[in-house]
Amino acid sequence: MLSLPPLSLYVHMPWCVRKCPYCDFNSHEHRGGPPPFAAYVDALLADLDHDLPLVWGRTVHSVFFGGGTPSLFPAEAIDRFLQGAAARLRFAPGCEITLETNPGTAEHGRFEDYRKAGVNRISFGIQTFDDEVLKRLGRIHDSGQADAAVKLAQDAGLDNLNLDLMYALPGQTLAMAEHDLQRAFALSPAHISHYQLTLEPNTVFAARPPQGLPDEDAAWDIQERGQALLADAGYAQYEISAYARPGRQCAHNLNYWRFGDYLGIGAGAHGKISLPRSDEAELGSPHASDRILRRWKLKHPAAYLAQAGTPAAIGGDEVIPAAQLPFEFMLNQLRLREAFPLDRFEARTGLSRAAIVAPLAEAEARGWLRIDGARVSPTDAGQRFANDAISLFLPTDDA
Ligand SMILES: C[S@@+](CC[C@H](N)C(=O)[O-])C[C@H]1O[C@@H](n2cnc3c(N)ncnc32)[C@H](O)[C@@H]1O
Ligand code: SF4
Repeated sequence: MLSLPPLSLYVHMPWCVRKCPYCDFNSHEHRGGPPPFAAYVDALLADLDHDLPLVWGRTVHSVFFGGGTPSLFPAEAIDRFLQGAAARLRFAPGCEITLETNPGTAEHGRFEDYRKAGVNRISFGIQTFDDEVLKRLGRIHDSGQADAAVKLAQDAGLDNLNLDLMYALPGQTLAMAEHDLQRAFALSPAHISHYQLTLEPNTVFAARPPQGLPDEDAAWDIQERGQALLADAGYAQYEISAYARPGRQCAHNLNYWRFGDYLGIGAGAHGKISLPRSDEAELGSPHASDRILRRWKLKHPAAYLAQAGTPAAIGGDEVIPAAQLPFEFMLNQLRLREAFPLDRFEARTGLSRAAIVAPLAEAEARGWLRIDGARVSPTDAGQRFANDAISLFLPTDDA
């Protein structure tokens, strides 16, 4: 039976000082003055009001301000949004509240104000500490600003910090990638995300790939060496690109990967909400069966600003077809290294475990999953061939 999983809140902030040539996120340069911060917070709150009926009575376990560059927003704007959100929704005690920060936008005093507004986790887009490579990536910051920004946050009493690093960068050697990790360790963050640079369609890098990209073997060497260095430094890998000190995994992302629920507020934001069959079903309510709804918002900031809070701001609503749910669940859960109980599959999809007996057996036979009673864990091979393992759960013609 479908039951209600933990609920998170994602808030998208769509502006950046400059668009990076590798980035395919919904991020836009704002020309002709600063972005309309106050109007955007009004729009976010109107958007939240409009989505509230989907989550009446539920508690929010994490909030994530992502971008774009949320750190462009002054602390008063973040404060006003969080106060408005807390007036509309119940926040769990200790609710994790993350704000993505570009080190090129960090200012003295700002972190203290973010912390006072309720932010308790900062995720820095460091990418690399190599100044030449930072330039080639089109970043607005240098390595000195990266170090300084992290220290400012620590001085402001924020100790739950993530550093985003990318590897397999143009001109990067194994030694350079190792050096990046050493520089990150020196700052002692709670969490490190180590992403392989990908050439995403419709980006400047996809149209004109930079010179000197490491080949597949070199990228694999960097990844393996990175995993070893991170483990030695006390960062346990818990997802494809995520490493954390004990107890410091990102609660917000973990909820996505465990197929939890989230409201998506802001330009282009995506949400996923479980709507179990209501008891009124017997009384003839339209909600006669379990549904999982995906909802997304208009992508372009100007259109979103003009429509937020009205049905016209909804880019789309889609009920995930039941036949698609095993794949959707595994696509998320199998990013994680943890074992998971089959009970979770049943609770999060509303399907019986019988629906995945055949692909589970196939994945076990291929050595990709281990099944121990009612618990399933990915093997090392399963992690290496995660895409193949996940594709076993795609709907078949007779599903
Ligand atoms: C939405 S950005 C947020 C941080 C902030 N906007 C910044 O860049 O400083 C999230 C992270 O995704 C990673 N990322 C973005 N594009 C990527 C790509 N094409 N390949 C790999 N990682 C990427 C970067 O590490 C980036 O920090
Ligand atoms: S600052 Fe971050 S979100 Fe903005 S363009 Fe660069 S990578 Fe993308």
